[in-house]
Order: sequence, then structure tokens, then C-alpha cells
Amino acid sequence: MQKNIQNNLITWYNKNHRHFPWRETKNPYYIWISEIMLQQTTTEAVIPYYTRFIETFDTIDKLAKASLEDVYKLWEGLGYYRRAKHIHETAQFICENFHGQFPATYKDILNLKGIGPYTAGAICSIAYGMSTPAIDGNVLRIISRLYALTDNIALTKTQKKISQIVSELLIGYDASSFNQGLMDLGATICRPLNPQCQNCPIAAFCKAKEIGQQKVLPISIKNIKHKELNYITGIITYQDQYLMIQNPAGLLENLYGFIQYELESPYRFMEEFEKQYHLPLSLVSYHGQVKHVFTHRTWHMHIYHFTLSHPYNTMYHLEDISQIPVSTAHLKVLKHYLKQK
Ligand code: ADE
Repeated sequence: MQKNIQNNLITWYNKNHRHFPWRETKNPYYIWISEIMLQQTTTEAVIPYYTRFIETFDTIDKLAKASLEDVYKLWEGLGYYRRAKHIHETAQFICENFHGQFPATYKDILNLKGIGPYTAGAICSIAYGMSTPAIDGNVLRIISRLYALTDNIALTKTQKKISQIVSELLIGYDASSFNQGLMDLGATICRPLNPQCQNCPIAAFCKAKEIGQQKVLPISIKNIKHKELNYITGIITYQDQYLMIQNPAGLLENLYGFIQYELESPYRFMEEFEKQYHLPLSLVSYHGQVKHVFTHRTWHMHIYHFTLSHPYNTMYHLEDISQIPVSTAHLKVLKHYLKQK
């Protein structure tokens, strides 16, 4: 068999997939219930709820005829209760419009209350084997890394581009195993921080890994409310020293902090820094984000680690940082970085 992304992922999934009760069936009704329960809820939490639910309501007809009270009772503790109400209403809708048979086209499924493109894509591929992509945060991350895409995955434009890539990858392959393979890969190996590339079945095809950017990508900067600012905050090191600068006039005047720019990409940060300091940086890794709330604004600091190949004149060893006045926001950044490093 040809070694490519699809075959490697599908073979890996078929051999190593996680076992869940909803993976024992192709009944679209059961798959639907599982996918709704799995929205905003972990797999471990869902297992007992799913099992009890389909034991109690083994057909759409039984669910439709139950009282809303009884449905809520089975949902108790799972959270986001609107999901239970939608499921109940949709079961009645399916009885009235589809003779109690779960619809079998992407369009009809997407039309159901509580079902968006991700859930419709998951149901169609898992229950019916259709070549529909199911794009969630995991898939956006995996595809960004696989193709070293530096587009912001929070943008609809990027999500469409990634959906197109997945649609093309799916052609001629087992979409159920491929999509669920992506789910498992995202949950266990291609994690947001510290991806376990040594265990990844498609590492050989991963452009991010090839160019050493797997700990940087994806870029995910949400377009947030007014007065909320996004920064790329740079932990810039040379050997075991950290670059910190004293703030000029303005907010946090005279306090020390890391260099940060109000930008949406660590690559742009490198350009800005080089323009200002005439020193090249190497980008090493992404370390999550830290939020700091001031009275009149909120900073979202996206922390990236960069290295210098030469020292700069305001660099400090870790033990010396406590001797200089550092802003609370950047102390938080440092603590976060050290804890997570
Ligand atoms: N999360 C959402 N859908 C899932 C599925 N079918 N299996 C595991 N995790 C999931």
C-alpha cells in the first residue's frame, strides 16, 4: 500500500483507535446523539450518559414520544441543557418529516436544529461513509502543521481553505476512519502544546516538523472585543539569559518587561525586532497565552520563545530578574513560561 497521509492515518486509526461505545455502531441516530453530547464535553464524561441515553431511547420514535422532563433527567449533570431540548425537538421533527428515519443527505442533516457543519460532516462520514470533512479545532491545528500554514485559524477564510484541503484528501479514502483518525491524532498526539511527533503516523509528511515549526503552529489569534489587545510577547534568550527592556513613558513606565508588539504573527514579530534591534531571532516554540486585565484594557499576550545568537546589553539571568522592577503582567508571562517549558 502506498505510503501517503491518508493511508498512514487510516491504518494507524484502524489499529490504535480509542474505544468508545459510539464507535461500535453505524446507526446514524446513535452517532448523532454521541456527536451532540461530545460538543463542549470530554469523551470520558460522555460515555455513561451516552450509554444510558441510547438504552432508554433506543429509537428516534421513543425519544420523540418521551416527555422533555425525562430527556432532561438523562442529561442531568452533562451541562449545556439546550442540547437536550434541541435533540428532543429534532426527534419529533424527524418523526413528522422523515417517518422516524434519520435523514441521509448532508443538506437535510445540516438543516436539523443544533447541527452545524462539523457535526453534519462527522455524522455523514461516520454513519454513511460520505466524503464530508468534519472541521473542528483539532483538524485546523493538524492541517496547519501538516502544510505549515501560517494563516490565522480563527478566521473564516482560513477555515474554508482548510476544509477544502481536507475535502481533497478525503477523495477515494475511508472518510469515517480518516475523520476519526484526525480526532484521535488531535486528542492524543498532535496536541496544542508539546506535540508527540515521535509517535505520529503522518510525521513524515508534516511540513511544520520538517522546518521545526511544530511547536509554533497553528497561529490562532481571535478577533476580540474593543480595548482588548493582542500581543506577541517574546521570551528572547541567549544561553540562560533573558532579554528584558525598561518601558519608556506611558503605561508601566520604567518597569521592565519582555518585548511585545501588537501583531498577529510571531514571524512579523521577528521582522519588527530585527528592524529595531538589528539582531536576527530564531523562533523556537509557542507557549500559550496569558491574559492581564488593567482597569482600562485587557492584554492577551501570546507567548513565543525566540533565541539570539549573540547577547544583547539588557539581558538577565533568572535569579537577577527578582532584583529589577518587572510589571505584574510580564511576571505572569515569565511564570507561565517557566511552568510550561
Ligand atoms: N469528539 C467529537 N466527536 C468524536 C468522536 N466521534 N470520537 C471521539 N471524540 C469525538
